[in-house]
Order: sequence, then structure tokens, then C-alpha cells
Amino acid sequence: MEQELNRVRNLYDTVAKEYAETFSGEHEKKPKDQEILHRFSQEIGDRRPVWDFGCGPGQTTKYLKNLDIEISGLDLSEKILEQARTIHPEIHFRKGDILELAFENDSIAGVVAFYAIVHFTGKQVGIAFREVFRVLQPGGIFLITYHIGEETIHLDEFLGKKIDIDFMFFTTDFIFSCLNDSGFENIEIIEREPYPDVEYKSRRAYVFAIKPVVRKSP
Ligand SMILES: C[S@@+](CC[C@H](N)C(=O)[O-])C[C@H]1O[C@@H](n2cnc3c(N)ncnc32)[C@H](O)[C@@H]1O
Repeated sequence: MEQELNRVRNLYDTVAKEYAETFSGEHEKKPKDQEILHRFSQEIGDRRPVWDFGCGPGQTTKYLKNLDIEISGLDLSEKILEQARTIHPEIHFRKGDILELAFENDSIAGVVAFYAIVHFTGKQVGIAFREVFRVLQPGGIFLITYHIGEETIHLDEFLGKKIDIDFMFFTTDFIFSCLNDSGFENIEIIEREPYPDVEYKSRRAYVFAIKPVVRKSP
């Protein structure tokens, strides 16, 4: 069953402060995150605009801003956006839904989405990828991360708060075929082991995918 957006929004509204405290400096402890974000910044160059979808408290947005990328953040949860705006007042953050993006077709040069799909069902992942494909400019870059696996983990407690939420893991074959079906090309998936004592012990994947300049014929 699809996880209602309200449940996801309530989760991040509930844990917004604790999530910001826990994850704000996380890229400093994860060398592969840094390498991937540097690569994204080099590949995007001076193309604009760039958005961080499912930005949470804005740690990835800020990391790329520090690399001179003009970037904004979008999230479903107003409370987590309050955290992002307080911690990074120089960055523009706005409320929005990845499954129904209020952006014009072909309008965004680059999208990053770190763990933004962790509460999506497989069907919602397909919808999200098609939405990102729609709003990206031809040649636009999509960088997404996810937990590798087949399991769904249900949590009743997170960061010291009582909650009721599912976290979804995805296989690399599934993510590849969803991106491919959405029209993306040059799909490159980089997997790594978890960093001990730094993060939840799941294998992680980073994906670069490109919206082709010339559309594939149907
Ligand atoms: C696991 S957190 C990741 C946050 C941040 N990117 C990070 O790496 O820590 C997932 C984030 O995606 C947001 N989110 C979930 N579903 C969304 C949707 N449909 N549209 C926009 N944001 C969404 C949540 O509110 C939450 O902030």
C-alpha cells in the first residue's frame, strides 16, 4: 500500500529538530558523499538552476552551495524547512512535492535527491523519476541516492520520537529500470558499503542519470 504523504510529512514535522541536529554535518564524515558531490558540481559547471529535492535540513544543499553552485531546496515538511532556513538563511528553500512538481517542463539544469525516495513505494519511485525527467532541461543531470536492498523497515520510534513509518530499500536493477523507463540515459550507479559508526548499516548507492538532448523515438 502506498504510504500517504501526510504520514511522511508528519514524521519530518515531528523529528525536524532532532533530524537537523543528527544529519546536518554528515557529509564531512562520508568521503564518498564528498567525492560524488564534487563530481556533480564539476559536471553541472555554471548551468542553472539546480535544486535539492527532499532536501531535509539542507546539508546537501549547503555542501553544493559551498562549491559555488547556485542551488535551492524543496521539501514536503514545513518544520524541516524551518530548520533548513534557520541553519542556512542564505539559501532559498520552498515547500513542494516531488510526486507533483510545480515546475515548468525543461526548466531545471540539475537535481540532487539524497535519500528522498526512502518512503516511496516502487510505483511512487516511477512517478518521481518521470516528474524529475519532465522538469529537467535536455542534458540535465539527476543525482540520487538510496539504500540498497529489498526490505521495508517499519519504525515506531526514530530519533527519540514515537512515529509510525516505513523506510524502503531498492535493488539497483529496479532503480536502473525505473530511470531507463522514464527516459534517462547514461545511468551510472555507484555502490558502497556503509561507514561503520557513522550511519545506519545499509549498503548505499549514488546514481548519475542524464536527460538526453535528443528524445528517444517512442
Ligand atoms: C530521509 S530524508 C532525506 C533528507 C536529506 N536529503 C538527507 O539526505 O538527509 C527524506 C526527505 O524527503 C522529504 N520528502 C519525502 N517525500 C517527499 C515528497 N513527496 N516531496 C518532497 N519531499 C519529500 C522528507 O520530508 C524528508 O525531508
